[in-house]
Amino acid sequence: MANNNLYLDYHGLLLPKIAHTGETLNYLQNFQVKDDDVFAVTYPKSGTTWMQEILPPLLNGGDLTSVETIPNWDRVPWLEETRASLVLEKLPSPRAIVSHMPYNLMPSSFFKSKAKVIYVARNPKDVLVSSFHFHQMASFLEDPGTFEEFVDKFLSGKVLFGKWTDHVKSWRNPELGDRILYITYEEMLQDLREVLGRILKFLGRELSSEALDRVVNYGTFKNMRTNKMSNYSLVPENIMDKKKSPFLRKGIAGDWKNHFSPELDAKFTAVIQEEMKGSNIRFPWDEE
Ligand code: A3P
Repeated sequence: MANNNLYLDYHGLLLPKIAHTGETLNYLQNFQVKDDDVFAVTYPKSGTTWMQEILPPLLNGGDLTSVETIPNWDRVPWLEETRASLVLEKLPSPRAIVSHMPYNLMPSSFFKSKAKVIYVARNPKDVLVSSFHFHQMASFLEDPGTFEEFVDKFLSGKVLFGKWTDHVKSWRNPELGDRILYITYEEMLQDLREVLGRILKFLGRELSSEALDRVVNYGTFKNMRTNKMSNYSLVPENIMDKKKSPFLRKGIAGDWKNHFSPELDAKFTAVIQEEMKGSNIRFPWDEE
């Protein structure tokens, strides 16, 4: 059973009460999406903070001021969280917004708009590992239990924002047409410059080579870890205990290999494969 003191149930999804209330979800539902809004949608722990770092300069001609001076949660707010109603109306357009919502729970104005979406997926095994450590350091999330227990919770969708497979599949809706760009965390790790080039093309924007280099440099794990506006050091220790785990923890692909036993790996893979069957979605990590 999920902890009702910590989470609310929104259409079957568990959302942490620290950042989600009836009011914030009401704001989400009634939000007026603008055609030039840009959404970065992720299942939690798939690269949200990374998108909050790189999207503003890609949209504003390479200006890094907001990345240096505004905390990530106000710079590129979550549509469903408490800060949204306070900052979104004040953001200059084009606005960059992040969301963990599945497609079907987006506000009705989204479906009538031309707003573009960048969907970032990450190997679910690394998502799970990242989430496990996040649950250990964040006092607003329930204790994850043992790693094996957390795997069961993750597979049954009794974790933040429900099942990974449901989330990924929901955003493959053909109605989205060319409004959506699919990228992976692993591609960003491999060649951030190339992915940023793809995002710019998708958004119909350009940056000089020097400006793009600067954005790439800001977006490295090493630099983000030292950026106070992005590394969650502004959040008090009693809410996020960075001694237990930094928020920007390892920033690598494949850390799951240090956590999963062969048996757990086989069980996890079988469940995910079964749920993805018939979806025609293939990820690079499926071949591993
Ligand atoms: P790890 O816990 O595996 O290190 P989100 O922002 O969606 O909550 O995701 C957090 C994960 O993205 C963490 O993964 C974090 O370290 C990683 N991350 C954030 N910025 C990154 C960057 N510039 N390079 C690599 N990984 C990054």
